[in-house]
Amino acid sequence: IQPLRVVLLGLGTVGLGVYAHLIRRPDLFEVVRVVVRDLDKPRRIDEANLEVPKALLSTDAWAAVTEPADLVIETIGGLEPAGEIVHAALLRGRAVVTANKALIASRWWEKLSRFAAGKQPLLKFGAAVGGAVPVLETINALARQSGVVQVRAILNGTCNFILDALEQRIDFDTAVASAQANGFAEADPHDDLVGLDAARKLELIARAAFGEASHFELNVRGIVGVTASQAALVREEGLSLKLVGSCERSEGHVRGVVKLHELAESDFLAGARAEQNRAEIVAGNGQVVRLAGKGAGRWPTALSILGDVHEYLRGRRITNQDEQVQPAVVNA
Ligand code: NDP
Ligand code: HSE
Repeated sequence: IQPLRVVLLGLGTVGLGVYAHLIRRPDLFEVVRVVVRDLDKPRRIDEANLEVPKALLSTDAWAAVTEPADLVIETIGGLEPAGEIVHAALLRGRAVVTANKALIASRWWEKLSRFAAGKQPLLKFGAAVGGAVPVLETINALARQSGVVQVRAILNGTCNFILDALEQRIDFDTAVASAQANGFAEADPHDDLVGLDAARKLELIARAAFGEASHFELNVRGIVGVTASQAALVREEGLSLKLVGSCERSEGHVRGVVKLHELAESDFLAGARAEQNRAEIVAGNGQVVRLAGKGAGRWPTALSILGDVHEYLRGRRITNQDEQVQPAVVNA
């Protein structure tokens, strides 16, 4: 079997981590092009002793369509040019794996959704919610089994990291800068702070849990304006200040809310520290499923993307094997 030819879009926090994983398995992957904005930026990961060869780099994001390739991994973020390029690559039969929740929650979904359906979908985006925590995968499985009644979750690592820091009396701006330096925040951290990133993830969760057609009402408030003294006071009372996204269906409507809660220690979500994400899912049969893990940053996100890539690879192998099976000739 030939290695999968991969075009990697973006070589920032997430893209560099993905690149490091891909080149460890030359038997499975051949990176044919890596697309960036700035050809002169250093492209190193010291901890992995890795430097990306300059010859691989291009500033032409349409390489996802023009280069001979089987798989496109999109980590440039935002809607344009990501939407147009991802759509064009899918139309040409290329598989696409992305962590771009802004794209999947946007108007592009109308055009992209058909590629995410079916047994061997070409489009995968598990890394868009939960980082390394398989939130969408678990909700998809529960929705197929007994249905989903309610989801409550901590979905934004940056906000959780900042709230943790505020509880320790670190001021807001210092905490934001630290979340950025750690690679947790979006290119524009405003999306994290006002709750927009969590809201996009909640929208993907609601689709997975309650289906496409549901009417979704969403109320969103972020963490802007929270002070260290306010967070520390809540902590002294034995509570934890958390940005929680929740959604449930009632009377044919799906309602989603992202807002601050003061959670008791006994609440599973209260235990999320730093950039951790947590989710508590109530299934139709009453079962409660709890998930926790690293929700943001290079390695958790790259790992989740690689999970989708390997799943695509498995599906492709099964399809190839099926095609090789000759129908048996039965003598009359
Ligand atoms: P970064 O800003 O660190 O990296 C973005 C990369 O894309 C950079 O290499 C940049 O090039 C390149 N790029 C951006 N626009 C273009 C363009 N128009 N043409 C060519 N290259 C472009 O972002 P992240 O790695 O943090 O995030 C990437 C995606 O992953 C986003 O969709 C984000 O929401 C998602 N995500 C991020 C997580 C995280 O923890 N950081 C977690 C889960 C999802 P250059 O380096 O030259 O500037
Ligand atoms: N900015 C996002 C967060 C990245 O902090 O959760 C992970 O999706």
